[in-house]
Formats: sequence, C-alpha cells, structure tokens
Amino acid sequence: MSKEIPVVLITGAAKRIGAVIAQSLHMRGCRIIVHYYHSESTAKNLVAEFNQQRPDSAHAICADLTQLERLRLLIEESVGRWGRLDALVNNASSFYPTPVSKITEEQWLDLMHTNLAAPLFLAQCAQSELHKNHGCVVNISDIHGERPLKNHTVYCCAKAAQNMLTKSLAREFAPQIRVNAVAPGAIIWPNNSSMDDKTQQQILDRIPLNRLGTPQQIAKAVEFLLFDASYMTGQIIYVDGGRSLQD
Ligand SMILES: NC(=O)c1ccc[n+]([C@@H]2O[C@H](COP(=O)([O-])OP(=O)(O)OC[C@H]3O[C@@H](n4cnc5c(N)ncnc54)[C@H](OP(=O)(O)O)[C@@H]3O)[C@@H](O)[C@H]2O)c1
Repeated sequence: MSKEIPVVLITGAAKRIGAVIAQSLHMRGCRIIVHYYHSESTAKNLVAEFNQQRPDSAHAICADLTQLERLRLLIEESVGRWGRLDALVNNASSFYPTPVSKITEEQWLDLMHTNLAAPLFLAQCAQSELHKNHGCVVNISDIHGERPLKNHTVYCCAKAAQNMLTKSLAREFAPQIRVNAVAPGAIIWPNNSSMDDKTQQQILDRIPLNRLGTPQQIAKAVEFLLFDASYMTGQIIYVDGGRSLQD
C-alpha cells in the first residue's frame, strides 16, 4: 500500500462484520468509504464517529449492489472523494436459506449479484485506480464456499464462485494488485435467523475451538492481507476456529 493516506472502500460496512473491519482500518490510519444500502442512519453515525475521531477521514455512499450499472458510479464516487482508492473490501452479502424445491429466480439473482457479480464488477471498475496505487482487493468469503451448508445451495454456489474469482483476479491483476480472501466460519448469527438454541449449540459443538469467532478476528485477517502480506495473492484465509477440519 502507498505511503499516502490509503483510501479503502468497504461494502456493507454500516454494521456487523463490515463495521468492525471499517473501525479497524480507520484505527490503522486509513480513510474509509462506508458503503451501505438500507442502513443509512447507522452508516452515517459510523462516519460521523470516524470524522470526530479524525477530521475528513470517512465518507458514506449508498448503492444497491444488485443494480450492476450502479457499481461504476460507486467506484467513481469513492475515487472522487479523496482523489484515490487503495483497497476494495467486498464484504456486503445476502444470506438466507434456499431449499432446492423453492429456489426462485429473484433469490438466485439477489444472492449471485451481492456475493459474486458485485465483487467482480467493482474490482473491474476499480482496476485502473488500484493498479496506479499497487492496491489490494479482499473478498469476504465463507467456509461454506468450500463445504455445503444445508438448505443454502445458491449462497454456497455464489461463495464457491467468489473463491474462484479471488484466484482468477489474482492472476489477472498481478503484479500490481494483490487479491485475497478471508473465509469466516461462524462469527455472528444471521439477522434473519430462525435458528433455535439447539441448532446453534450443534454448530458450536462442531467447532474445534468450541466458540464463535469475533468480527475483530475477521478484521485482523483483513488488516494482515492489506498491510503485511506483500508476497501473498490468490489466497483464502480460513478464520473458523478449525470448523473446516471437522466432518
Ligand atoms: N456473520 C457470519 O458469521 C459470517 C460467517 C461466514 C461468512 N460471513 C461473510 O462475512 C461478510 C459479512 O457478514 P455479516 O454477517 O456481517 O453480513 P450481513 O450483515 O449479512 O450483510 C452485510 C451487509 O450487506 C449489505 N447488503 C446486502 N444486500 C445488499 C445489496 N443488495 N446492496 C448493497 N448492500 C447489500 C447490507 O447493507 P445494508 O444493511 O446497508 O442494507 C448488510 O448490512 C459476508 O460476506 C458474509 O457472507 C459472515
């Protein structure tokens, strides 16, 4: 990353894991573009907090990532804010069950657009700017891009394809831009969860470290890939308490 103040665009950064990645990179001295869609007030509060801590250090931009024509504008607005972009963190995602007998075209498009198409086209639009700055892309994947999660076929396919996107872009964008991914295990229970305590306990029982991870642990891995991994590209780091070692 450059010696100038780095500018990082984080998608879906108003809350949960995205917000913690934003906090961690802001503390590291970056200027942060907080992308959001529905979470306007949360995003604006986070930006206000960042700007209070350090004036002119954060900016919020709204975009629906399923509207692919909006993605170029999102990158242009991000670059326009401080005249540069150094890193893109593709964190935004939709996640919900899609039992095979009930999958709709709308669900297919939503899950594929947020988890796969948006990361691809945002990286495409950001390529020339990231190239200039020897920048980075970090995709937030999922251990279920490798091993299927029951009743989540479309999401798992999207994350599996996102893993290939990480490797493929790493080849395409080398040597100027590094592209890597972080694959979390169970970190925060889903918002729309109908998961009962028993199911949550069953998930915890299959994690060798026996507990949920934290968003801070995901943010640490992102920070490592951005700042300390100058000889790494095309890699997917599992931060999952060992879950992917189990049956
Ligand atoms: N939570 C976990 O334990 C876990 C486990 C494995 C992998 N992951 C991965 O880690 C990342 C973050 O997880 P999370 O649970 O914090 O995510 P999340 O809360 O489910 O979603 C993050 C944000 O994505 C944004 N988003 C969804 N659809 C969008 C759209 N059409 N256009 C624009 N933005 C959209 C939403 O922004 P708004 O609120 O502004 O609409 C949302 O706040 C995701 O990529 C997820 O797949 C998470």
